[in-house]
Amino acid sequence: MRRKLAAGNWKMHGLTDALAEVKALTDAHPDPDVDLLLCPPATLIAQMAWARGTHALQIGGQDCHAEQAGAHTGDIAAAMLKDAGASHVIVGHSERRADHAETDADVAAKAAAAHAAGLIAVICIGETLDQREAGHALAVVTAQLQGSLPEGATAANTVIAYEPVWAIGTGRVPTLDQIGEVHGTLRAALRDLMREASGVRLLYGGSVKGANAAEIFSVPDVDGALVGGASLTAADFSPIVTALENA
Ligand code: PGA
Repeated sequence: MRRKLAAGNWKMHGLTDALAEVKALTDAHPDPDVDLLLCPPATLIAQMAWARGTHALQIGGQDCHAEQAGAHTGDIAAAMLKDAGASHVIVGHSERRADHAETDADVAAKAAAAHAAGLIAVICIGETLDQREAGHALAVVTAQLQGSLPEGATAANTVIAYEPVWAIGTGRVPTLDQIGEVHGTLRAALRDLMREASGVRLLYGGSVKGANAAEIFSVPDVDGALVGGASLTAADFSPIVTALENA
């Protein structure tokens, strides 16, 4: 059985006052029936770890460097995220792939660094609209999965997030059949790539809201969501958490 995961990616949003949302969220879900993860900007990780108190909320970074330390101004090592209170780190988000020209090999190296530091890597993959319209979505995500999964990936240290680029922040969501087709394809591909493939959690991400969460969570092989905009406030994120608990 895979434990479901509701993950929030705050991206480049949030100052100290946003921690009030963490309190509201943990108050609304004192003992959640699913794993709850928030990935704030790195500047808020330590404060969020303090703010959660004894709550089971998990905290993640949004990126890490592939090396453990070195002359890399502005970058953050996985061990630093862990030291600040993180247990997870997102790697290979499409915004990083686009803004920083990260390749699958870069993403695999970052995921390996996350594992070496004892973090769970949330590896993101997803096709562009052009790729989907050309009929290449399944081939693209399968190749990204193969290229982005490091040696040593296990069900315990790796989560995969399928995020079609054209669905992120756009309000456009694939059909449930399209989501199911991709997740089924990824599950089968994982079986060829690693042991324990059936234990790896597959998240869907891209314009998940309270209003569409329940139907998305009804799709087989969807083990939760990676949520951007709707994770910024407890009012928006809480219904998604509840929908996942009820799935
Ligand atoms: P969105 O972002 O929920 O705002 O579409 C999802 C993501 O980028 O993880």
